[in-house]
Amino acid sequence: MNNIRDFKNLNQKKVLLRLDLNVPLKDGVILDHTRIDKILPIIKFLIKNNSQIIIISHVGRPKGKKNKVLSLKPICKSLEKKINKKIRIINDDIFKLRKEDLFTDLNNQIVFLENIRFYKEEEKNDISFAKTLARLGDLFVNDAFSCSHRAHASVCKITDFIPSFAGLQLETEINALKKITTEIKKPITCIVGGSKISTKIGIIKNLIPKFDNIIIVGGMANNILSYKGNQIGRSIKEENCEIIIDEIFKTSKNHSCKITFPEDVLVGKNMNGKSRVKELNEINNNDLILDIGPKTIKKIKDIIEISKTILWNGPAGYFENPNFANGSYEIAKSIIKKNKDKSIYSVVGGGDTVALINQINAINDFNFVSTAGGAFLEYLEGKKLPGIKALK
Ligand code: 3PG
Repeated sequence: MNNIRDFKNLNQKKVLLRLDLNVPLKDGVILDHTRIDKILPIIKFLIKNNSQIIIISHVGRPKGKKNKVLSLKPICKSLEKKINKKIRIINDDIFKLRKEDLFTDLNNQIVFLENIRFYKEEEKNDISFAKTLARLGDLFVNDAFSCSHRAHASVCKITDFIPSFAGLQLETEINALKKITTEIKKPITCIVGGSKISTKIGIIKNLIPKFDNIIIVGGMANNILSYKGNQIGRSIKEENCEIIIDEIFKTSKNHSCKITFPEDVLVGKNMNGKSRVKELNEINNNDLILDIGPKTIKKIKDIIEISKTILWNGPAGYFENPNFANGSYEIAKSIIKKNKDKSIYSVVGGGDTVALINQINAINDFNFVSTAGGAFLEYLEGKKLPGIKALK
C-alpha cells in the first residue's frame, strides 16, 4: 500500500480525497467534530504541497436520492473555519462535471462534492460512476478507514482508474489496530452496541473465537432479547436474525466465550421522554428499550474488572437523551478507572461511541480511539476490507 506521504511531486496535482465526514448532525448542527478533526493532517499536508483537493464523502444513508437534510454543507462550513480557507461545494451532477471547471476560481484550493451517496451508483460500486469520478483528478487518496469495509465506487472501484494511495489517518488507524491484534493480553472483552444492527450482528459470530467475553448492548441486544422470548415492545430490531443468533450461541459454547446481554432495561414511551427501569418480563407493547438497567450495568462492570484488554464499539443506549445515557457513561467510567491504573488496554471505536466519549471529555482516557465503527469490527474479525485491498 503506497502512502501519499511518499509521493514526490504533488504540486498542482488534483487529488481526489475520500474522507469519512459522516458526523452526527441534528438540524444542520454537528454534534461531534472528531471525524473532521482527525482528517485535518491530510488536508494540511496536501495544502502545504500545493495540491488541489477534491473532497468526496458521504453523510448518513440517503440511499441514492438527494436529501437536503443530508447535505455536506454544514460540514464543509465547519472545515472552512478550522483551516481558515474558502471551500466551494459543488452541487452539479457529477456525470456532467468537467475536470477543468473544478478550480476556475484561483482562491479555491479545495472543493467539496455533495454527498456521494446521493448517487445510487456509489453503493453499487458502479464502474462508469467510478470512472467518471476518477476523471476529475490526477490521484486518489483514501483517508477514510471507517468506510473501507464498504465496496463502494468512491472507496473501491475508483482505484481501478487512477493512481491510488493511502492517507495519513488511514495508516494510523491500521497500525493501531494491527498492534492491538498482535499484542493482545487476555482476558479480552468486546462490547458491541449501537443501532447499526445489520452491519454488526453477522460479525459477532466471527469474533467469538478471539474473545473471552462478548457483551451485547444497544439496539442489537433487542434482537437477542426477542430471540430469548422476551417482549421488546416498539424497540428497534432487525428482521430474520434468528439463525445467526442461534449460531452465535452455539459457537460461543464451542469456544468458551461468554455472551452477556441485558438482564434489565430502561424503557421510554418515546425517544425524548423519561426513563423507567424494567425487568425483562415487565416490558409491554408500548415500550421502547433505550438503555440497559442497573443489574446489567453491574454485570458489565464485573466483566470489565477482570479484563486485561477491552474493545468497545457502539453505545449501550440512546445517549443523545441524558435519561438514557447512564449505561454508556457507567461503562466508560469503569474502563477509564482501570485505564488510569494501567490495568487494562482499551480501544474505543465508532462515530457514536466517540461522540459519547467526547461528551464526557474523556477522549484521552483510552489507549486508542478509532473513528471507525463497522470497519473496526470487520478488521478485528480478520476480514480483508475492500477499500484497503483495492489500494494494494
Ligand atoms: C460509519 O459511520 O461507520 C461509516 O461512515 C460508514 O457508514 P455506513 O455504515 O452507513 O456505511
